[in-house]
Amino acid sequence: MIKACLFPAAGYGTRFLPATKAMPKEMLPILTKPLIQYGVEEAMEAGCNIMSIITGRGKRAITDHFDISYELEHQIQGSDKEKMLADIRHIIDKCTFTYTRQNEMKGLGDAIYKGRVLVGEANPFAVVLADDLCVNSKGDGILKQMVKLYEKYKCCVVACMEVPTAEVNKYGVIEGNKIEDGVYMVSNMVEKPDIDKAPSNLAVIGRYILTPDIFSVIKETKPGKNGELQITDALCTQAQKGMVIAYKFKGTRFDCGSVDGFVEATNYFYDLEKKKNKK
Ligand code: UTP
Repeated sequence: MIKACLFPAAGYGTRFLPATKAMPKEMLPILTKPLIQYGVEEAMEAGCNIMSIITGRGKRAITDHFDISYELEHQIQGSDKEKMLADIRHIIDKCTFTYTRQNEMKGLGDAIYKGRVLVGEANPFAVVLADDLCVNSKGDGILKQMVKLYEKYKCCVVACMEVPTAEVNKYGVIEGNKIEDGVYMVSNMVEKPDIDKAPSNLAVIGRYILTPDIFSVIKETKPGKNGELQITDALCTQAQKGMVIAYKFKGTRFDCGSVDGFVEATNYFYDLEKKKNKK
């Protein structure tokens, strides 16, 4: 039922300068695969086949990545290297990619609102922030876990995880009641709260299932923290009507928008690859 996945990818990625001066943050590779390809693969596993990407200036490499490169493919045809493009060819064959630009960086809420023309207003859709790289080595990917939960509750679902109290000011933080193991009915959400004012240490990470009524809510939402249109504020309005659940996902999330998280993810996937090659 959830076929479309939105990838807001218009941000400047300033924490990765100078690497991101001319290259999109979403194209930074973990081993040989760009971050956004990991996100697209997670969305495919969850059942999506429409990948809608919010781009901006300097992000053309994303569009090129999800397209055929005839010259290159011709060059390596018949060689050992051909298999290195097998996964991306499979993605291109199975999915439709749509794009629109966010002309001004007015915040994640605004980026998602721009996605309205791509995902439409008839069906729920997923949102993946590709710089949050999520893996679950023991079963379903994070987005697939969330889609299953959506099918049960039919409302917005946000992925959350416990973070140290000293770090709550980096995230959107939820307040809610536990309704089943790892699932909370959200009553309040605050974007980057002061450490002493945070309602909990349950932080929202970059995976969402949104119902299309979110668009009319975003439209009515005023700019919040840092003068940006925050998706947290729009979701808070929904939460106050009992329409948002938070899910403590099974798996690991790497904050690849930060250098530390990026290096951790690289080491994790490198070790995984080494183990695979030993077998
Ligand atoms: P971040 O704040 O992590 O991304 O936004 P950033 O601004 O690119 O990174 P830094 O902080 O300068 O290093 C989270 C996600 O939301 C998208 C970003 O591309 C990223 O995937 N985003 C954010 C937009 O698409 N548009 C915006 O206006 C803001």
